[in-house]
Amino acid sequence: MDIRPAQPADVPALDTFLRQNFASAQEADLVRRLCIDGDMVLTMVAQDRDLVGAAVFSRVAVEVNGAVVPAVALAPLAVAGPWRRQGVGEALVAAGHDALARAGWMLSFVLGDPAYYGRFGYAADLARGFDSPYAGDYFMARALQSAGMPCGVRGSAAHAPAFAALGEDA
Ligand SMILES: CC(C)(COP(=O)(O)OP(=O)(O)OC[C@H]1O[C@@H](n2cnc3c(N)ncnc32)[C@H](O)[C@@H]1OP(=O)(O)O)[C@@H](O)C(=O)NCCC(=O)NCCS
Repeated sequence: MDIRPAQPADVPALDTFLRQNFASAQEADLVRRLCIDGDMVLTMVAQDRDLVGAAVFSRVAVEVNGAVVPAVALAPLAVAGPWRRQGVGEALVAAGHDALARAGWMLSFVLGDPAYYGRFGYAADLARGFDSPYAGDYFMARALQSAGMPCGVRGSAAHAPAFAALGEDA
């Protein structure tokens, strides 16, 4: 099992993987749009023979007191059925966080189940300081730098435009 950053040559296989592993085409369409718009920052893939997992991180426009904070959003995250509950999801997310931290990204957001994403350090408390259409208990953030953000922050977080299309035809 290889966990590695996706390359341009992986895009067709990534599209197929997402179409096969989500009930609707929304996630594949989202990723395609993120790619086309230049908003995809990093995608980690898990590969056996075929792709068996993917974690996509895209640009989020974050401003705190007028200053831009380099930030990403994790979505979608998926592991193929037979490969679940073997740590592949965790390995994808951890490898993504490490690479993003090394590249200087400060914050990662996610919208999802706190019971799952909490294990990676995502917390609703940190995200609560940011104005977002996704604000709520399922909207979480994680500092990517060990210096962290110790005393709470207030600002805005705007996901890439591709997210606006999600749910439109649901
Ligand atoms: C969520 C998902 C990526 C996890 O991948 P995975 O490789 O099985 O994850 P890991 O092996 O690292 O972790 C598995 C653990 O997460 C837990 N888990 C999985 N989905 C969860 C959820 N929605 N809520 C809470 N816990 C969850 C499992 O119960 C398991 O717990 P355990 O280790 O205590 O047994 C995978 O189940 C998946 O692709 N699901 C369908 C797509 C999806 O819902 N993606 C997330 C939203 S975009």
